[in-house]
Formats: sequence, C-alpha cells, structure tokens
Amino acid sequence: MPLYQIRDVALSVNVSSEGRPILFVHGFPFDGSMWDGQVAALRQAGGAPVVPDLRGFGASGPGELEEWTMDVFADDLAGLVERLELGPVVVCGLSMGGYVAFAFWRRHRELCRGLVLADTRAEADTEAGRANRRDMAERVRTEGAGFVADALLPKLLSGRTRRERPAVVERVRAMIDATPAFAIRRAQLAMAARPDSTRDLPEIDVPVLVVAGEEDALIPVDVAERMATRIPGARLELVPDAGHLAPMEDPTAFNQALTKWMATLR
Ligand code: MLT
Repeated sequence: MPLYQIRDVALSVNVSSEGRPILFVHGFPFDGSMWDGQVAALRQAGGAPVVPDLRGFGASGPGELEEWTMDVFADDLAGLVERLELGPVVVCGLSMGGYVAFAFWRRHRELCRGLVLADTRAEADTEAGRANRRDMAERVRTEGAGFVADALLPKLLSGRTRRERPAVVERVRAMIDATPAFAIRRAQLAMAARPDSTRDLPEIDVPVLVVAGEEDALIPVDVAERMATRIPGARLELVPDAGHLAPMEDPTAFNQALTKWMATLR
C-alpha cells in the first residue's frame, strides 16, 4: 500500500478513487486489512473505500508522538482526507475505530458526511476498565505482546465463528500478533483516557448507521441499541451469530447493511 506522510507519521493507506468516499477505521489491535471483506463489495456498490492503518499499526510508521489519544488518530485521518481531497467522507469505525470516529466528528465536522458505528460504544471506560488497560499496557512493556492474542481472542469472536470459520480466527490472531508492543501499549493508554461521547449523541446531525454483532461479548447489543436511540434518525442493524468483529465474521450481512444504508445517502 502507498505511504502518505501526514503530520509526523507515514500512514499506509489502501485508496480507491471513484465513488463516494468511505473511510474505514480499524479496531484494536488490528489493522486496515480487517476491512478486506468490505473493500470489493463497497466498490461494486459505488463506494470508494479508503482504508488506512492507524499510526503504529499494520504498515504505518510509528510517528514521533509518544503519547497517543483518540484526537491524535482523528487528526491523522483528517489530514489524510485533506491530502487526498476526499471532501466530506462517511467514517466507518469499529470499536476503537468508533471512538476515533466520535473524535473525528467533534474535531472535523466539516469533513464528516456520515458515521457508521460498528461494535462500538459512546461511553468512556469504567474505573475497572481503565485499570485493565493499564495492566495490559504495563505487562506489554515488561514482557512483550506475545500473550495478547490469547488474552483477547476468546472475547472477540462469536461461538459460531470460532467453530465454523477457522480462517477468520487465524486471521485475527495473525493481526494481533503482528501489532507491535508499543502500539498496544500506547493505544490502551489512549483508550483509557478517552472522553465520554454520550453527550455528543443527540447533537449528531449527519446520517448514522449503528451495526452490532448480536453475540458481541465486549459491547453487548443493548449498549449499541441504547446508543442508536440517542442519535437522531440513526438506523440500527444487528448481525446474527457475529461477535465483536461483525465485518470479518459475516461480511455478507455487514456489507448488505452498509450498502443499503449508503444507498439512502444523497
Ligand atoms: C477494539 O476492538 O477496538 C477494542 O475492543 C476496543 C476496546 O478495547 O475498547
């Protein structure tokens, strides 16, 4: 993938040119290839998927900043949208990518044409959640990231995916194993420090699609439902038998929900 120097970081980006731009923002600790099952389908439906690896992830460089926040990621993406002259884009973020999408909305509204909030939540962490993130950040610092895939995998995928889609399980493991320890550490600390976005929900005045895997063990479906009801006009789509990584677990269902909603945008 081509590298684009944006601010202090070289971002690796899979870019399409023709069609309505949709910026895909991956979750933690993955990379842009988690959206491979969306790219062709979206192109066919007239979309122009733009899929970066966030700083430190995938083939992107680490950048110079040592302290990351959701705002840093959002500003990188805004810089990319401006560099590529994409105009207002639909931002589709999964989980941590959703936290970044909220920051993008707060800071770069003029660049935002719509939001797809996939397997994500608006709330900040609880104190216990923050402590867990700090524990992982510290453990990664002292012993490396080798344990992370085993720690996360059981919570990421539905029972059906784990039983019936071994290629997805292996792909997710490979992405986690390829993520450098420093990125896991910095992203965990950034997520622990992220603000609560619930007060933004009633203010969002672009079209919104909320998508949730019905078996998501990390962000239960009622959390997604509650979030959708607080955003004016938001559409909610549930993906049966999928967990926290619905776009990878059932790309067909996810893509259908996404392309149907994209078709409603003018
Ligand atoms: C993700 O998939 O991005 C993570 O589950 C986000 C998180 O740890 O809150």
